[in-house]
Amino acid sequence: MSSSIEGRRIVLGVTGGIAAYKAIEVCRRLVDAGAHVIPVMTDDATRFVGEVTFSALASEPVQKSLWSEADPIPHTHLGKTADLILVAPATARFLGCYAAGISDGLLTATVLATRAPVIVCPAMHTEMWEHAAVQENLATLARRGVIVVPPAEGRLAGGDAGLGRLADPAEIVAAAVAVLEGRGYQVPSGRLRDFDGRRVLVSAGGTREPIDPVRFISNRSSGKQGHALARAAADRGADVILVTTTNRPAPPGAKVVRVDTAASMEEAMLEHAANADVVIMAAAVADFRPKVPAEAKLSKADGLPDILLEPTPDILRELGRRRPVGQVLVGFAAETGDAVERAAAKLTAKGVDLMVANDVSAAGVGFDHDTNAVTILGADGGRRQVELSSKRQVADAVLDSVAGLLD
Ligand code: PMT
Repeated sequence: MSSSIEGRRIVLGVTGGIAAYKAIEVCRRLVDAGAHVIPVMTDDATRFVGEVTFSALASEPVQKSLWSEADPIPHTHLGKTADLILVAPATARFLGCYAAGISDGLLTATVLATRAPVIVCPAMHTEMWEHAAVQENLATLARRGVIVVPPAEGRLAGGDAGLGRLADPAEIVAAAVAVLEGRGYQVPSGRLRDFDGRRVLVSAGGTREPIDPVRFISNRSSGKQGHALARAAADRGADVILVTTTNRPAPPGAKVVRVDTAASMEEAMLEHAANADVVIMAAAVADFRPKVPAEAKLSKADGLPDILLEPTPDILRELGRRRPVGQVLVGFAAETGDAVERAAAKLTAKGVDLMVANDVSAAGVGFDHDTNAVTILGADGGRRQVELSSKRQVADAVLDSVAGLLD
């Protein structure tokens, strides 16, 4: 490794997040590999780690300000002479400024004033990471050629756990080496690109069946599991279409189709399923709907309404009937009691390859939780249990089972 980046000039940008301490390890590894590291810190970064640590490791003074006596235009000098700019950790604020072209300090000015490749390594709390603004900024940067080393799952500041932790320093350095060698960055094993080029269609959320213009029949589905599946598939390289009833943020690059009723979900799913390699119905579709929704708001003064119900279309069954050869079809079953056996019956009835059973009577499982526990049932009789874990981890386990069925 040392020879390939020996003497290469790497501007190491460090922004203000708790993961700044891990940038010390990134700096050390780059220096050990022979790179010439020029540390650039934001003021906020210096609240978490000292400048002296970086200057001592890099044998190069830390640069922080656009207003340097030694160099009147430090950003253009840094930007022009860099072989690579690596920002680790990259905060939501830094990503926002960079995507918007706002030069609010030396580091943002430098990334805007360079033609060198730029790698950003975001690190932040899960809620921030999932925020639509952050994801859209990242998508904008990625479209412009910025390389994103995505965060990992794990412990976060304040004792929380989730997605958003800075990628491992070894992985960040491997990405820098790969980019400098012209090989491009591939998400390493553990966060695979095993769905590269695959078209994955996912449904998420509970449908809303109108009773009148202001009331509807629905259920407790939050869409978290479906969105986690869409994000996991996108992270693993898939072209994703997400049909959702919720306003949750979607993964960067995914096409999102917003629907509300079972009928609108059916229309969207059938339209897009024809070209999909994988179809996953994680949505909780209402089983019944008012046959004729009232045109005007029902009034208490008119007494109890007489609402005639009819079954909604069974979207999964229809997808099973129409599916093209080779397509992998996955259903979910939210059950109480004998969840696995009930799910097994649905697997056969709906003609799917995999049925994912959640026993929603168990603590932390199913509707609206951030966690889930499932048994993945295969049409071949195989069963895989996933203990209580994040919905992202469940999503990855489901995709692992799907990957085994592709081709
Ligand atoms: O959204 P979250 O809050 O994260 O919660 C996740 C979840 C619990 C909703 C999810 O993991 C889940 O289990 N989704 C399916 C829930 C469900 O409605 O199961 P079901 O047993 O009613 O339906 C079985 C399968 O048929 C499902 O894939 C469902 O999408 C599909 N179905 C059901 C009825 C219908 N009319 N059309 C369908 O396609």
